Amino acid sequence: MNLKDAKAIVTGAASGIGRCIALELARAGAHVIGGDIDMDGLKELENESADLPGKIYGEHLDVSNESLVKTFIEQAFQKLGSANILVNNAGILRDGLLVTREDEGWLRKLPTAQWKRVIDVNLTGPFLMAREFAATLIEMNISPSLIVNISSVTSSGNPGQSNYSASKAGLDAQTRTWALELAPYGFRVAGIAPGLTHTPMLSHVSPEAQAEMISKIPLRRMAQPYEIWLAMRFIIECDYFTGSVIEVNGGARF
Ligand SMILES: NC(=O)c1ccc[n+]([C@@H]2O[C@H](COP(=O)([O-])OP(=O)(O)OC[C@H]3O[C@@H](n4cnc5c(N)ncnc54)[C@H](O)[C@@H]3O)[C@@H](O)[C@H]2O)c1
Repeated sequence: MNLKDAKAIVTGAASGIGRCIALELARAGAHVIGGDIDMDGLKELENESADLPGKIYGEHLDVSNESLVKTFIEQAFQKLGSANILVNNAGILRDGLLVTREDEGWLRKLPTAQWKRVIDVNLTGPFLMAREFAATLIEMNISPSLIVNISSVTSSGNPGQSNYSASKAGLDAQTRTWALELAPYGFRVAGIAPGLTHTPMLSHVSPEAQAEMISKIPLRRMAQPYEIWLAMRFIIECDYFTGSVIEVNGGARF
């Protein structure tokens, strides 16, 4: 797929990796609809892209809300005329151990709401987005097209992240499944599993925990969002790539 012909929808575009992907797409001449719950962040993104060859439009989106997702996809197609790339990037952390024995001897359990919120945003969100995106493209007879799911190196399991790791492992499974199901309609579906990446998401991780994680990365540093974009560019441009997840992790699996 030629980058400059892309018309892309990027979720979680107001910050971090999604913001970088939206800006790089626009720098290459692609038009982008960025969806996010953070409207201030989207406004800043629109302003920052004002002089780029491609245009970025920010639209409110909560990926976990089925009716909002449907309306967002309808509006995105109206605004762009069509779309051929969906980047499922929006994601959250709500870390906690399954059970913790506190000093006083009582057990603290991971609250069900904390489990569910991460699954709703990180796993059900991409499902809702991909379903509406694929249905619209198939109805409109548009191909070729591409879905990229942003997963995580922690999909193989990480203490304190049963909700997050499960959501990302499930997302990788959806990537492989949709690649099989949607190939006959001209879709490619792929994933990127970043390792620790320098974004505002890390404000939820203590400096001590970050230092501990960096000490386990063979390259001894975090990724920059631009390095995740490089994997995205490869996936967009390589028309034979589908059904796989690229790990960009400095050599580390937590
Ligand atoms: N930063 C890392 O170390 C790292 C590592 C591996 C994977 N990832 C993944 O990369 C993706 C991007 O993360 P990031 O580090 O850029 O995080 P970030 O917190 O900087 O950005 C995430 C964006 O998603 C948005 N968002 C949150 N909930 C949403 C919802 N319900 N609907 C729509 N938008 C919503 C946020 O407002 C934010 O703008 C996530 O899926 C994350 O799991 C990040």
